[in-house]
Amino acid sequence: MVKANNAYQIDVITGENTYPVYVGEGLLEHCSFVFEQLATRQVLMVSNETVAPLYMDKLLNAMPDVETDCLILKDGEQYKNFTSLQKIYDKLIDGRYHRDSYLIALGGGVVGDITGFAASTYQRGIAYIQIPTTLLAQVDASVGGKTAINHPLGKNMIGSFYQPEAVVIDVNTLRTLPEREFKAGLAEVIKYALLHGGTFFDTLYQQLEEGIDASDIEVLKPLIAKCCRIKADIVRQDEKETGLRALLNLGHTFAHALETLSAYKRWLHGEAVAIGLYCAVLLSVKLGYAKLSLAEKVAHMLSCAGLAYKIPVGIDVEQLCDKMMLDKKIKDKRLQFVLLEAPGACFLNSEVPERLLKETLIEAFEGD
Ligand code: NAD
Ligand code: GLY
Repeated sequence: MVKANNAYQIDVITGENTYPVYVGEGLLEHCSFVFEQLATRQVLMVSNETVAPLYMDKLLNAMPDVETDCLILKDGEQYKNFTSLQKIYDKLIDGRYHRDSYLIALGGGVVGDITGFAASTYQRGIAYIQIPTTLLAQVDASVGGKTAINHPLGKNMIGSFYQPEAVVIDVNTLRTLPEREFKAGLAEVIKYALLHGGTFFDTLYQQLEEGIDASDIEVLKPLIAKCCRIKADIVRQDEKETGLRALLNLGHTFAHALETLSAYKRWLHGEAVAIGLYCAVLLSVKLGYAKLSLAEKVAHMLSCAGLAYKIPVGIDVEQLCDKMMLDKKIKDKRLQFVLLEAPGACFLNSEVPERLLKETLIEAFEGD
C-alpha cells in the first residue's frame, strides 16, 4: 500500500484499466489532484437529497476549474430504479454531454450503483468516479465495478461490470452517517477479516472489543484501506466473478434469503449479512470444516459491533430454507455457499445437504 497525498492509495488492476482508490481524511476538500485531468471535460455529479446538502459544495469547491452540473436523486433503495436512471440520461442528453464527459457518484452504494450503470451505458460508456460516503460503500460497493439498478422483480437484476476511473474515500464523511448504517458497514468489514484472516482478523477482533465508532478516523483509515486492498486483489484475479470473486458473497446466500423473505424492509443489507456470516460459520462447523470456537468468536465480534447475529423470532425457518433452495443464484441447480475452515481459509461449496442447512438455521434461530 503506497501513501500518496496524505492518503492510502490502492491500485485496482483489471483487464481493461488500472485505477486508484484513495483513502484519507479530508479528501473531499483536498482531492483537486484527482480532478486535474477533468478540467476540460463536462462533469455531471450525481448525489441524493441527504448527501448533497452535506458534501456537494465541499466537493465543488475542490474542483473550481471543472465544468460541473449536479443531479440530486431521491434517497432510498426503492429509488435504485429505471426512473432515477432515466433522470441521469435525461440530464446528460439535455446537457449535450459527449463521450468524453465524466460522471461523479457522491453517496452510498445506491447512488454509486446507479451512477456506475448510467456511465456504463450512456453513449456506450463514459468515465465515472466513485466518491462513497457510507462505510459499506467505502469497503465494498465502490470498488470492483459492479453496477446495477433494481427491477421490480429482483434486486440488482439490471447491471454491468464497469470499472470507475478512481475511487475517492474521505473517511470524515462517516461522521454524519447514522449509527445504524455505520454498524451495518462493520458487518462487511468483518466479512473481509474472515476472508483474509491473519493479523487483520486478530487486530479487528481486538478493535471491535475496544469499540469502533465513526469518529475513530485513525482506526478506520487503515481498516478501510485494508478491505479495499483485499477486494482489489480478488477483483484483479476474477473481475467478472467466474469463480474466486464469489468468495465476497460470504454470508450473502443467507442474507439475501432473509432480505427477500422480509421484502427488504426489516434489515439493512449489512445487518442481514451479519446474520448470514454467523450462519455461514455455523454451517462450516456442522460440515466439520471449522471449529465451534470460530462460531463463538464471530458471534462475539458481531455483538461487539452492535449487530444482531441470530435469526430472530418471527422468521419461519422452514420458509427461509425453502427460499434459499429457490435462490436465483443457484449454479447448475445447486445452491452455492461460501464456507470456511478458519479465517483466511474460505472456499465455495455447492454440496450442502438440505438437512444440514435446515439444522444450521434452527441452531442460529434465537427463539426457544
Ligand atoms: P445507501 O446508499 O442507501 O446509503 C445508506 C443511507 O445513508 C442513505 O439514506 C444515504 O442517503 C445515507 N448516507 C450516505 N452517506 C451518508 C453520510 N456520509 N452521512 C449521512 N448520511 C449518509 O446504502 P449503502 O449501504 O451505502 O449501499 C447499499 C447499496 O449498495 C445496495 O443497493 C446494494 O445493492 C449496493 N451494493 C453494491 C455493491 C457493489 O459491489 N456494487 C456491493 C455491496 C452493496
Ligand atoms: N460485493 C461483492 C462484489 O463486489 O463482488
